[in-house]
Amino acid sequence: MDLYGALRPLLFRLDPETAHNLAFWLGARACAWPRWPEPEHPSALRRSALGLDFPSPLGLAAGLDKGATLLPVWKYLGFGHVEIGTVTPRPQPGNPKPRLFRFPEAGLILNRMGFNSEGAEVVAARLRHRPTGLVVGGNLGKNKETPEAQALDDYRAAYRLIAPEVDYIALNVSSPNTPGLRNLQAPEALKPLLAGMLELRKEMGLERQPLLLKLAPDLAEEDLDAIVDVAVAAGISGLIATNTTLDRSVVDEPLRALVESKGAGGLSGAPLKAKARQVRQRILTALRGRLPLVACGGLGSAQDVQGALEDGAALAQIYSALIFEGPNLVDRIHRGLASNPSSH
Ligand SMILES: Cc1cc2nc3c(=O)[nH]c(=O)nc-3n(C[C@H](O)[C@H](O)[C@H](O)COP(=O)(O)O)c2cc1C
Repeated sequence: MDLYGALRPLLFRLDPETAHNLAFWLGARACAWPRWPEPEHPSALRRSALGLDFPSPLGLAAGLDKGATLLPVWKYLGFGHVEIGTVTPRPQPGNPKPRLFRFPEAGLILNRMGFNSEGAEVVAARLRHRPTGLVVGGNLGKNKETPEAQALDDYRAAYRLIAPEVDYIALNVSSPNTPGLRNLQAPEALKPLLAGMLELRKEMGLERQPLLLKLAPDLAEEDLDAIVDVAVAAGISGLIATNTTLDRSVVDEPLRALVESKGAGGLSGAPLKAKARQVRQRILTALRGRLPLVACGGLGSAQDVQGALEDGAALAQIYSALIFEGPNLVDRIHRGLASNPSSH
């Protein structure tokens, strides 16, 4: 049995956030090991996207390594890229606990973390010691107390510190756990936000660094079309779809009642799969190849990832499935992708 297999019963008996902290504590000790072997990727998995070279199309989605503390671990596991964050400009504690709930029988996670972040300065300092050979994205958000009208200032403040240390930036306007954040997806709010960020990117001489936008799965089809038009017209580099959903109908009864009893938050994992795919397919149709899309939401197997790539996504990201299946999932997905001739 692998190490995660041995630890899993303990980790799943603990409160989810305690388990997360324990796993990160162990991971941080492991990072001190000086001789991590280089991961080996079948050459068939290589991808060029966003002007970057990826050893694999599979990445770690934002929210697991918010502070960029375990980059050597993600590299060793074989991820082609890692999206750190969400990082807010100033440190903030996030929402009160409990704020993270697992439902292993359904492969489902409910979270209302609320951007617990050490702040951009601390994370940027850590990124200065990042390992080479791993594509790292920085996912940015605003502080809770910042009014919506001043959101751009927050994204810019975080960008100034994080962008010089990473390979791409993702603007997170889609987490459901910061009041008002999702309103920034409305075209009239999005236009000045994207324009302001692209202006800063130019000012900093980072024109070649990809700037992506991460979207929620809870947008109406017409809104998705309008957002795609705004993103293309603004000249950003790509979209990530999707974040977690507020829609409880993705969970069947009797589990739905239990999930509802835990209160507010976004749902991720297997129950999000169909909804996220539908949203992505709509976005891909609206995009007509004008920008690349990163698939995220409910992906948990080589077949899921293959499906997302065949739909037209350039890259894919996972989070929840990794928690339930353990680190070997990365290798299993890679083997499945490499053995599928249509992915070559
Ligand atoms: C506990 C938890 C925390 C998350 N935090 C963030 C975050 O800080 N920023 C973000 O953009 N997405 C965050 N996400 C969303 C994931 O990046 C991803 O979009 C979502 O979970 C769907 O993918 P999955 O079904 O593979 O988990 C979080 C997800 C979970 C489960």
